[in-house]
Amino acid sequence: MIALEGKDLAFSYIDSPVLFSNVNIQVKKGECVALTGASGSGKSTLCHILAGIIPRSIEGNVQGKVFLLGDEIQTLSLVQTVQRVGMLFQNPDSQLFSPTVEDEIAFGPENLCLPREEIARRIAHSLQSVQMSEFRQARTNELSQGQKQLVALAAVLALEPKVLIFDEALAPLDSHHHGLVQEIIQTLKRRGKVILIVEHDPEEIKIVDRVYELRDRRIWEVYK
Ligand SMILES: Nc1ncnc2c1ncn2[C@@H]1O[C@H](COP(=O)(O)OP(=O)(O)O)[C@@H](O)[C@H]1O
Ligand SMILES: [Mg+2]
Repeated sequence: MIALEGKDLAFSYIDSPVLFSNVNIQVKKGECVALTGASGSGKSTLCHILAGIIPRSIEGNVQGKVFLLGDEIQTLSLVQTVQRVGMLFQNPDSQLFSPTVEDEIAFGPENLCLPREEIARRIAHSLQSVQMSEFRQARTNELSQGQKQLVALAAVLALEPKVLIFDEALAPLDSHHHGLVQEIIQTLKRRGKVILIVEHDPEEIKIVDRVYELRDRRIWEVYK
């Protein structure tokens, strides 16, 4: 089964030339796929389209279709979308906005209006998944960059999306957290998550099954 699919995608920002066209990308159940390409080739833009952030929150001309677990993304509500796909960005500071770790992770499940016990379960479970349980009461602004990225990941996991997109999210990490996040990704994959990971050098990521590259305004499948 294809969990995440971009079909014949073409895109341009408003008043800008075409960034890419004829883009076809598929991530199947159980796969961890990498997306690479030069700076400015459109990797983040493609991730935003696949996560529904473009055109919902960022304007642009999208052609083609995105399918999330078989359904076209345009037919899904925001609440349905965030429960299917979650995205982690390069800079955790752009993703964190709550004073404490617990508040940060509770925010998403609270917005889904889940029962109190379910919210508590998700906070505990997602913190455990990123090995940050003992930081539940910590203040987010006192955490290291690596710890902040783990909290940002936990906040995404608390929505329990099947598909996870990491947009150069490992790049700012020190070697300890880089290794730790790779281990966590591997465990998430084993537990059935579908993963798309943007990296400059996908060779660095040991767990990748296949690699796509954005080049010359097209996408190519490259072999490791
Ligand atoms: N919101 C935006 N409006 C207009 N142009 C943008 C916007 N975001 C990115 N771009 C441009 O689109 C191109 C691709 O950017 P991006 O998707 O961030 O590439 P990458 O992630 O591969 O570095 C760049 O030229 C960038 O300047
Ligand atoms: Mg980018």
